Amino acid sequence: MLSSNLLSALSLLTLPLASAFYLPGTAPRDYHEGEKIDVFVNTLTPMLNSKLHSLISHDYYDDRFHFCQPAGGPVKQPESLGSILFGDRILTSPYEINMMENSTCKSLCQSSVPKEDAKFINDRIKEDYGLNFIIDGLPSSEMKRDLKTNEIFLDAQGFNLGDDETIPDKPALNNHYDIFIQYHTKEGYSSKQYRVVGVLVYPRTVNSMVSGSNSPDCFATQPLYLSEATHNEFYYTYSVSFIPSDIPWGLRWDAYLHVFDPKIHWFSLINSLVIVGFLVFMVAMVLYRTISKDISRYNAIDLSEDVQEDYGWKLVHGEVFRLPPRPMVLSVMVGNGTHLIMMCIVTLLFALFGFLSPSNRGSLATVLLICWTLFGCVSGYVSSRTYSTLGGDQWKPNLILTTILFPIVVFSIIGLLNLFLIFSSASGAVPFGTILAILLLWFLISAPLCVAGYFFGMKHGSFKNPVSTSSIPRQIPPKPWYLNPFPSAVLGGILPFGAAFVELYFVLSSLFGNRAYYAFGFLFLTFTVFVLTTATTTVLFTYFVLCSEEYRWHWRSFLIGGGSAFWLFTYGIWYWASRLSLDSFTSVVLYFGYLFLFTLLDFLIGGSIGYIATYFAIRRLYSSIRVD
Ligand SMILES: *[C@@H]1O[C@H](CO)[C@@H](O)[C@H](O)[C@H]1NC(C)=O
Repeated sequence: MLSSNLLSALSLLTLPLASAFYLPGTAPRDYHEGEKIDVFVNTLTPMLNSKLHSLISHDYYDDRFHFCQPAGGPVKQPESLGSILFGDRILTSPYEINMMENSTCKSLCQSSVPKEDAKFINDRIKEDYGLNFIIDGLPSSEMKRDLKTNEIFLDAQGFNLGDDETIPDKPALNNHYDIFIQYHTKEGYSSKQYRVVGVLVYPRTVNSMVSGSNSPDCFATQPLYLSEATHNEFYYTYSVSFIPSDIPWGLRWDAYLHVFDPKIHWFSLINSLVIVGFLVFMVAMVLYRTISKDISRYNAIDLSEDVQEDYGWKLVHGEVFRLPPRPMVLSVMVGNGTHLIMMCIVTLLFALFGFLSPSNRGSLATVLLICWTLFGCVSGYVSSRTYSTLGGDQWKPNLILTTILFPIVVFSIIGLLNLFLIFSSASGAVPFGTILAILLLWFLISAPLCVAGYFFGMKHGSFKNPVSTSSIPRQIPPKPWYLNPFPSAVLGGILPFGAAFVELYFVLSSLFGNRAYYAFGFLFLTFTVFVLTTATTTVLFTYFVLCSEEYRWHWRSFLIGGGSAFWLFTYGIWYWASRLSLDSFTSVVLYFGYLFLFTLLDFLIGGSIGYIATYFAIRRLYSSIRVD
């Protein structure tokens, strides 16, 4: 009882949280009666209903679809970099919609589909592809009811290309669209003006060809099946109705900002917060009590006896700062990881404060890109200081690797996936101009900033270690299996992953399922929890490692911190096996390409958190003991 009250009270909180994400992006457009409203078409994307069948988007004017084209050919609309990166390709269309003019069964054009393209279209219908129109900046949507909360919302996933559910294995093409435009009347002017506040599109299939007549009959009862054996002729038709609405223009996006299952978000968040809070508290207590006991004992022994007897982590005080192998790679990874952490934090803050308006398409990707470009200096600075702390003396190769290694890896993965998309003639491929723009951003801004950051870091130099390193390395006694690098990374990754995986499910669904994601408040808190858990588990593990007289902690701390990447990848495989049923090889390659990229990013982010947290914890630990 109490808990359900608590939950409903908390879910009320999601409302301001959700509407806080709204920011009026573009100025409202006032239409006079009869004024033309532009209809733009975007790519066709697979819809996430129960399962997702594909990850490839197709251009609306792909020749194989035979959609009606505007006179003079479609015209590309200007888009932001982020919008293009996220797969938008927005073009003009031949639809004629005039403000306040209802129309019924208007013919768009007569389309003819040869048999080989009929198969292509039927396959896309079976894969649940959806069409995406953009009318006055609003995505076309269907009104849906959230079965869990009973709320009505607008699902901006688009509307179905066809229907393959009424009769299984007999896909019918939706060739008629009932378009409902909700408008709001602006009073107080000499002539009335209207604003568009909602766009609903309900598609249906109708074999509207009437023999002996050259106008379509949209109310015929036969569905339209495209034959894969003969040539097909049919009409594309549409009806438009203007429906008055009392939604003010400023709130027209609210119906789209639907947070699916807010209770689950809250529940998972509270759950992980409680677990994590408890953990952090436990770890802090255990560490604090043992260590302070250790410290007072060590210091007491030093005072009372001549023969000093060390054990546990204190034994390795002469070893902890012994330089690790491959400081070059470690510092490059820590530098780039910190760069990514900064990028995530700032982007999430932007999202949290509502600067990423949904009316500004692709703003999330744009902000990510800008943050990534500008924080190039962070990677240089951190890498340089880490490298000199690790005793590296070849600063030139280190500078070059910090600047180019990670971008090259990421660009190559994305480039390969892009090539793959181009060969499979899908439209998700990033156009050449966009690639060039990103390369220029990197080369002209990010890379120079990284170099500047590097020199700034060199000026600050290395961190001073609190204890000196002995000249002869100690023998390392045998230790339990779980303190070896790989098992400890896998074990250490469980908690951070466990704290984040419910939110991850929603992120994956919106990323691959083309479903808008607005729960940035949850995402921000989840990220915070992830950072805290990663840092604590790594420090705890490293403490155990040191207690077992194993002093090679540098690489271990990075691996343990990055251990959640292992679970992320495993989870990605599970998600693929249970939630997706990707039909084409291209989709599978695309999915695993992106999954690998996320895993890599997670590894760098987690690893850097682990390394940095451990480094400062160890400095703190060893500066508190007296060493003679
Ligand atoms: C258009 O049609 C809708 C219902 O289909 C009706 O409510 C509305 O008044 C009509 N508008 C005009 C301008 O005729």
